[in-house]
Amino acid sequence: MTVPPDLSARIDALADLLTAQGDLAPNSRWRTALAKVPRHLFAPAIGQADPDRTGAERYPIDRDTDPGTWWAAVYDDASIITQYDDGAGRVADGRGIPTSSLSAPGVVITFLELLDVHAGHRVLDVGTGTGWTAGLLSWRVGADQVTTIEIDPGLAAQAARNLKAAGFSPRLVIGDGLAGYAEAAPYDRVHCTCAIAAVPYAWVEQTRPGGRIVAPYQPGFGWGHKLVLDVLGDGTASGRFPSGAGYMMARAHRRPRLPADEWVQHGGPVEVSRTRLDPRAVAYGPPAADLAISAHVPGVQCRAFSDPAGSGEVTVWLLDNRGPGGSWASVDYEPGAGEYTVEQAGERRLWDETQAAYLWWLRTGRPARDRFGLTVTPTGEHFWLDTPENVIKR
Ligand SMILES: C[S@@+](CC[C@H](N)C(=O)[O-])C[C@H]1O[C@@H](n2cnc3c(N)ncnc32)[C@H](O)[C@@H]1O
Repeated sequence: MTVPPDLSARIDALADLLTAQGDLAPNSRWRTALAKVPRHLFAPAIGQADPDRTGAERYPIDRDTDPGTWWAAVYDDASIITQYDDGAGRVADGRGIPTSSLSAPGVVITFLELLDVHAGHRVLDVGTGTGWTAGLLSWRVGADQVTTIEIDPGLAAQAARNLKAAGFSPRLVIGDGLAGYAEAAPYDRVHCTCAIAAVPYAWVEQTRPGGRIVAPYQPGFGWGHKLVLDVLGDGTASGRFPSGAGYMMARAHRRPRLPADEWVQHGGPVEVSRTRLDPRAVAYGPPAADLAISAHVPGVQCRAFSDPAGSGEVTVWLLDNRGPGGSWASVDYEPGAGEYTVEQAGERRLWDETQAAYLWWLRTGRPARDRFGLTVTPTGEHFWLDTPENVIKR
């Protein structure tokens, strides 16, 4: 690999961009880390760059045939997709479901800042990918303090090579990070870079009192949220959602994104009713409303389909496909109509539950995302508003 002569200027420009965006504090140690753990050592020769923050399209990058584009993408605030379909797809084709990436620098640094990690801390890094976050953490706390765990053996092998080239040798485990890694516990920090639909209790058990867990939390309704939990020493962990995050789901927490016509196979007899709530308000609501719905309606997923013919009609689908039976609901929005048809089937009345949750959010004064919190206990997790005592009842 021929390194461009202006590499340090590129790294400085990236750091300046992240500072301007508010991701990197001006005097943060992570600014130095960007130079000491250069991202290009963790980028594959062929990838798909995804500057999702700017809304620009994904584009292929190839270090050998077009090094200019490759280097520009590596030192931009873009994620780089490194795997499709758990390795069954070809990265060069850019088709399939992305299943691993070198995360975008902005969100990586934001999570590392939230982790509040210090020299000497023992850290568990879940979702190694090609190894960049494990390298950054190794630089910060010492590689002998870092355990990084990746479920995919092929990616773990790439990470081992990349980390070695960068001069770091943390403990690299192939396995399911949702179980933590008890052999190296207790940890001061757990840093997860695949999204979770619920917090694995093993992480709480394996973290010291006063320790911290950060993860992208994507319970199923709408986009995702950054979650920051403090481990409290009484068998629980509790914390808030400071801002948004969209990550690839941890393998065991993936839910099939079924086409709508397959959803209706769940559930048995269909109950038909009417609603006056515009279902688009629910489907396209702000992240705080998504969180309110997730808090009240566990397991619900939502998809909305606009009529491709341009009539303005939208069908909003809700699904809970956990368990053998499952439940679904659909609501048909028609422009100009005062009421909309609702169909519901299965054990749950998902539209009724979701509508009630959305109206609770409005009645409560539209609380912002950072007023919500989550407490994790040995028996499960529950949401709260403003203070842990103010539990949101399901
Ligand atoms: C978005 S990539 C993050 C890679 C890297 N840490 C970074 O931020 O650049 C998420 C990684 O999590 C891995 N992963 C998914 N489920 C996992 C699990 N249960 N345990 C460990 N790793 C998992 C995926 O294979 C993927 O490599």
